[in-house]
Formats: sequence, structure tokens, C-alpha cells
Amino acid sequence: MPDRPFGILVLNSISRSGLDRLPPGSFVVGKDIAEPDAILVRSADLHAMSIPSSVLAIARAGAGTNNIPVKDLSARGVPVFNAPGGNANAVKELVLAGMLMAARNLAPAQRFVAGLQGAGGPLEKAIEDGKKAFAGAELANQTLGVIGLGKVGCLVADAAIKLGMQVLGYDPEITVDAAWSLPSQVKRAASVNEVLKNATFVSLHVPLVPATRHLVNADNLRLLKPESVLLNFSREGVVDDGAALQALDAQQLAWYVCDFPHPGILAHAKVLAFPHLGASTREAEDNCAAMVADQLREFLEHGTIRNA
Ligand code: MLT
Repeated sequence: MPDRPFGILVLNSISRSGLDRLPPGSFVVGKDIAEPDAILVRSADLHAMSIPSSVLAIARAGAGTNNIPVKDLSARGVPVFNAPGGNANAVKELVLAGMLMAARNLAPAQRFVAGLQGAGGPLEKAIEDGKKAFAGAELANQTLGVIGLGKVGCLVADAAIKLGMQVLGYDPEITVDAAWSLPSQVKRAASVNEVLKNATFVSLHVPLVPATRHLVNADNLRLLKPESVLLNFSREGVVDDGAALQALDAQQLAWYVCDFPHPGILAHAKVLAFPHLGASTREAEDNCAAMVADQLREFLEHGTIRNA
């Protein structure tokens, strides 16, 4: 252990519950550390920066590590700590919100009501029109397909079952932990295609790796029912967004709900896009920051590497 505080370069805004675990005296934490011992990051893209040779570890206050060159760092012997599950409940809740927004036409209904402001005319008649135009469907008794049965996928499956939905789950590599937390009512599908054919709501919970790039694409989008809702709260690139837009235009898909907006999809009337909000709750930010700060401290002070 050096006879000076460890320098931690912080590249994004990180919750106090994490920073407080790196006390002054033992750690100097800031945005301007010349030769840091570690980097604490949320969404900043570390592929785009040269990581100083002084860095002994990287901590990512989130589950995914796509923004970090994990392979190169491993070759340098630099561990990357993350917070699997730290924000799973936050993501689950946003998936539920996305399903409800789509099923009940909430976004266009809200725009319709906002448009009534100052429009004149009898409000009662407009409300009557809105009730007809935006009538929706209930989630209960519908089938949700969950692709990826990790921490988030299992929570989404469980919540959907509690809402009275049937759940069809697919994951070629389910972990023992996930197998234990997966509700027994979840039927297991043998393929992505089986999920797309049979579910009305399809929610993706896989990391972006070569095997999952465009996992949902022009070929298999055809299998969906026209009233289907596709939800991508995993990673940009897991769905071929161009193909999803074409499916919406061809009425092969009713809604595309997605947490990764980019210029091509922003304005489509049947896209509900959010600014990567899945993990953005106070609770999730606190959890993830605390989880990675603890791992970082144990590693720097004691050389201990443990999974969150
Ligand atoms: C994650 O991978 O858990 C999220 O991307 C976290 C975040 O939004 O920072």
C-alpha cells in the first residue's frame, strides 16, 4: 500500500453514497487527478480515451461494461468492477412503465390532451373523442416474452406474473442464481423465434456482444403479431432499429419502446424513446455507486477482488 492517498479520477457524476465510501485521508477523489490509481465512471466512453498507465483498476457504477475496453485492460492486469443487479429494480420498473404506456396509448393520449389547451370548442366532446381514440388493452392475460434471464429479466418476469401476464422466457445460458430466482410459472422457450411468434410484448435483457448484435432484425421481426410491443432496455444494437422502424411502418409491430434514442428514431409516432433512463433513479444510483466503491476500496487497500 502506498504511503499516500489513492487518487481516484471520477469521470461522471457519481452518487454520494459511493464517494462517501472513499474517505479523505485514504483517497483523493476528483475530476482532475493527474496520475490516478483508479477510474470511477458511469457512462463516459473509455474506448475513446487513453487510460493512464498508473491506473490499477476501473469501477463502473452500473451493470454493463460496453463503455470500457475490458479485454485490453485485462491484458494489462487491470480489473474492471461493476454493479450487476444494483439497478435491476429501476430497470424493471421502467419496463413496466413502457409496457403500460404502449398498451394504454398514454403518450399520444397525453399529447392529445395537451393540444386541447386553448383550442376552444367543447371539452366534453373532445374528451369523449379521446376516450375512443386511445382505448387500449390490458396487460393481464397477455404473453410477455423475456429474452435474457439475468437479474433484470428475472425481475421483469416476476413482476409480469404478478400483473397476471403469462411469461415465456428465453436464455441459452441461464446462471444457477437466475434459475433459482426465476418464477416457476415462466415457460422456457427454445429460441428467440419461439418468443417472437408467441408473445405480444417482448422485452430484451441481454448484453451487447457479437452474438446479440441485431438479435432482433428484419428476418425475425416478421414473426411478431401486428399488435406486438417490442421493448429494448438492454443496449443499443441488440435491435436493428432500422428494421424495427420498417416493421412499424408495415404494421408488423405496434410499438417500439427503447431506452437508446438516436436521430433515426426520435420522431416516429410509434416509438417511445427515453434518454437511457433505465438506471436513473436515486436508489439505483446509490446502490451502484456504493457497490463499486466498496469493491474498489477492497482492491486498492487489500488487493481483494470480489464479485459484487
Ligand atoms: C447499466 O449498464 O447498468 C446502465 O447503463 C447504467 C447507467 O445508466 O449508467
